[in-house]
Amino acid sequence: MSKITAAITGVGAYVPEYVLTNQILETMVDTNDEWITARTGIKERRILKEDGKGTSYLAIKAAQDLINKKGIDPKDIELVIVATATPDMKAASTAAYTATNIGATNAFSFDLEAACSSFLFGMSVAARYIESGKYKNVLLIGADKNSSFINYKDRATCIIFGDGAGAVLFEPNQEGLGLQDELLRSNGEGREFLQATYGGSSYPINENTFKEGKHYVFQEGRTVFKNAVFNMADVTERIMERNQLTNDDIAWLAAHQANKRIIEATANRVELDPTKVMMNIHKYGNTTSATLPLLLHDYESQLKKDDKIIFAAFGGGFTWGSIYLTWAYNS
Ligand code: UT7
Repeated sequence: MSKITAAITGVGAYVPEYVLTNQILETMVDTNDEWITARTGIKERRILKEDGKGTSYLAIKAAQDLINKKGIDPKDIELVIVATATPDMKAASTAAYTATNIGATNAFSFDLEAACSSFLFGMSVAARYIESGKYKNVLLIGADKNSSFINYKDRATCIIFGDGAGAVLFEPNQEGLGLQDELLRSNGEGREFLQATYGGSSYPINENTFKEGKHYVFQEGRTVFKNAVFNMADVTERIMERNQLTNDDIAWLAAHQANKRIIEATANRVELDPTKVMMNIHKYGNTTSATLPLLLHDYESQLKKDDKIIFAAFGGGFTWGSIYLTWAYNS
């Protein structure tokens, strides 16, 4: 019997309406459009403004987009994974709330947190359930409301992050298409360079830390940048080598959208033509767990059955990795 492979068979997405442009940021912090564009490639990002709406709001909208597009019955979904670094609440699962609200009432669900690599690691987990032969419909959502822990007085972070969500459905494939190989890594020594220190179990928020803004995300940009460039390029090169893939074989690079220069460095390492590099960072900024499915959503009409796609991500922790996947359908 041939091995069951796990293929992506549908994509959905959602971004909030409010557009935070570089020009608006110029009125909030000491920055300018020229600096942000040259250093990051970002022109604007989306922000979920409404009070009381969290990551699940984005996740539900993205999942509903997928469900409507594919015309599937949510009751057929067996597992819902919400990849996120910004869950709605502590203790209560964002995925459980999301699953119930999209009508996936026969599914079990859980959150998966690996910072900006959450969706990439989620692809690996979703694929294992499908490959086991026991599950036929696994919904993987990448969603983050980054604006919930950004200090809009800190120019080092507020220019980068945005809110958004994307969803993909994994199903078994009989032709060997779907996830082919993965190279996933982490190194906890990186934690000090990118974190929201207070608000977790090590350092609960108190009145003083709140006043000092220690619940906001902090990053030492240069160190994160160097590690992202080295590691994302490294795993991309290695996964191509061990699958005997040349740059001609690759149809697309779908790399985490944290900084245009990091993505270009990864593409340059494997000498990939820029036309094969998916890019939408100018529209959304860094949406953490949502960047990869938002890329798939924006490029879906250009993807063809059998296309070889290399996914790559790098994030806090540090966490990083690369996945080689073949596309399973024509739009
Ligand atoms: O997704 C998770 C992983 N995250 C990432 O991959 C992010 C990685 N890091 C980065 O993308 C970049 O490091 C940043 C975009 C965050 C910063 O770019 P950079 O080229 O590394 O700038 P820098 O931090 O080295 O700062 C260069 C200069 C500094 O001024 P001096 O010291 O040279 O006078 C900063 O104070 O730019 C200044 N600066 C700014 N100027 C205008 C920093 N932020 C800004 C700003 N506007 N927003």
